[in-house]
Amino acid sequence: NEKSASSSTFKMGNSAQERSLPYVPDCYAVPPSYEPRDALDSTSESVPTIDISRLKDSDDERRRVIQEMRLACQSFGFFQIVNHGIDQSTLDDALAVAEGFFELPAKEKNKFMSNDVYAPVRYTTSLKDGMDKIQFWRIFLKHYAHPLHRWIHLWPQNPPEYREKMGKFCQEMRILSLEIMGAITESLGLGRDYLSSRMDENGMQVMAVNCYPPCPDPKTALGLPPHSDYSCITILLQNLTGLEIFDLTAHDGSGRWVHVPEVKGVLMVHIGDHVEVLSNGLYKSVIHKVNLNEEKTRISLASLHSLGMDDKMSVPCQLVNDENPVRYRESSFNDFLDFLVKNDISQGFRFIDTL
Ligand code: SIN
Ligand code: FE2
Repeated sequence: NEKSASSSTFKMGNSAQERSLPYVPDCYAVPPSYEPRDALDSTSESVPTIDISRLKDSDDERRRVIQEMRLACQSFGFFQIVNHGIDQSTLDDALAVAEGFFELPAKEKNKFMSNDVYAPVRYTTSLKDGMDKIQFWRIFLKHYAHPLHRWIHLWPQNPPEYREKMGKFCQEMRILSLEIMGAITESLGLGRDYLSSRMDENGMQVMAVNCYPPCPDPKTALGLPPHSDYSCITILLQNLTGLEIFDLTAHDGSGRWVHVPEVKGVLMVHIGDHVEVLSNGLYKSVIHKVNLNEEKTRISLASLHSLGMDDKMSVPCQLVNDENPVRYRESSFNDFLDFLVKNDISQGFRFIDTL
């Protein structure tokens, strides 16, 4: 009975998503306890949107943008950016080579198949394929992206333009991430360069290239369970809606899911766990999940930016006083990977160690 077969039956290249099954196998069914809650539909106006070209304007204008960022980081832990200066063609090309990769025959993609979360290039499905109690309706390629020359030769060569187009996109994301991180540390009163040398020289950039194939019963399964990102920030591009963020500020105190619309050319910024630590809890790392579509394939590109592999993020002494004691234990990207290996993360996850 295929429908109730154990999750390990659905190995790479043979996964339900890739075989276009007309039903959702049981191992993908999300239990009622965290069944996707109905999100309030929202327009692009209801999530903070920041025109970041203004960071380069007068000092007054920069201060205003930084104040907008501060408010967005305190409330949603999420904002959209417009006027980021990246050509639409760079975004479209990166989405196109990503789609091209996922359209390759399984044999070609499986060359990158790995269940090793420490691997610098890794193609797999779900979160930890065959190990998670619940499987997720996602196939993805994850690769390191900084410094580019160190990793790019390990990336797929197929489609032929993959390295060039994805490489260009990664470099643009990298520049943008440093600019946004400078604004974030400035907004915390730490100054624009507080982390720049640590992010610039040894900082990690991990590109998650995600594909969510059409799902015959989108209400049953999830693309990704509720989680927050371990990064400092994640910059995200999507070709189709599906992302939902959890709004902690909703009036009745229970929070609500907010559907993030897809607007051409817009990039999204997630505050990750390491900025929550950096801010000693003033800024929130956003909890998000991915819903599925019955007809269309969703592609998303998530560029995760963090400190070096073993460089621990800790609460700066400037943000600690008698009223505000240190709230978090320090941690690194490597600590996060160890956490992934040791835990069943299929119930959703948040890697943050509060004191
Ligand atoms: C992610 O959470 O890493 C991906 C989100 C998305 O696909 O929109
Ligand atoms: Fe995420």
